[in-house]
Amino acid sequence: MYKNLLCLFLLSRGRVLSAVFAIQDFYWRDYAHGFVPKDAFEGKPGIYIGQVYYNGHGLIPATVYPYRNAAVMVYDTRQNMKENIKILCNSDTSKFYWQGQMAYAIRGGFQDDQNLFIGLVKHEGSWKIGKVKDIDAYENKGLYVWDKAGNHVKFTNFHLLKYNFSNTPSSDPYAYDIRNLAIH
Ligand SMILES: *[C@@H]1O[C@H](CO)[C@@H](O)[C@H](O)[C@H]1NC(C)=O
Repeated sequence: MYKNLLCLFLLSRGRVLSAVFAIQDFYWRDYAHGFVPKDAFEGKPGIYIGQVYYNGHGLIPATVYPYRNAAVMVYDTRQNMKENIKILCNSDTSKFYWQGQMAYAIRGGFQDDQNLFIGLVKHEGSWKIGKVKDIDAYENKGLYVWDKAGNHVKFTNFHLLKYNFSNTPSSDPYAYDIRNLAIH
C-alpha cells in the first residue's frame, strides 16, 4: 500500500528518481531442514549459505548442510543450529561468485558492532562457509570456520562471496529514494 502510494506520487511528479546506492537484489528465505528453496544459491555442491541469529550478538553467516539436517557456524566455538535459519537466494544465482578482494562483497550479517561478510574455504577435506570480519578494517580480519574439535579456526586466504553488478540498471528497480521528497 505504502509502495503504491509512493509510486503514484512519483509518477504524478513526472520524473524518475535515480537511487544513489544499489540494493543487492538477493534475499534470505526461511529454511526448514530438508527443504531447499529452488532459488537458493549452492555455494559448493551440497552446501548452501545460511544466516542464523545468535543470542543477542547478531546475524551470523553459516554453512547449511541439507543432507545432514544441520546449519553450522562459529561464535567462539562451533555452534550447531537447529532452527530459525535463513538461506541465501536470488532469482538469478549466476550473479554470485567467489573471489578474493573486498569490493562487491555481500554483507552477510553482523556481530556486535561489526559487519560480517561471507567466505568459503577448503579445510579438513571439505568446503566450509563462514563469517568474514572485514579484511580491510579489522584487526581480527579473516574468515572464521570450525575444526573437528569444534574450535574456531581463522583464515586470511579464502574465497569471498561477491555479487556481479554488471547487468544492474543504473536506476535501481528495487528501491525508491525517498530522502529528498517533500512530504506535504
Ligand atoms: C559479470 O556478468 C557479466 C555479464 O553477465 C559477465 O560478462 C562477467 O564475466 C561477469 N563477471 C564476473 C566477475 O563474474
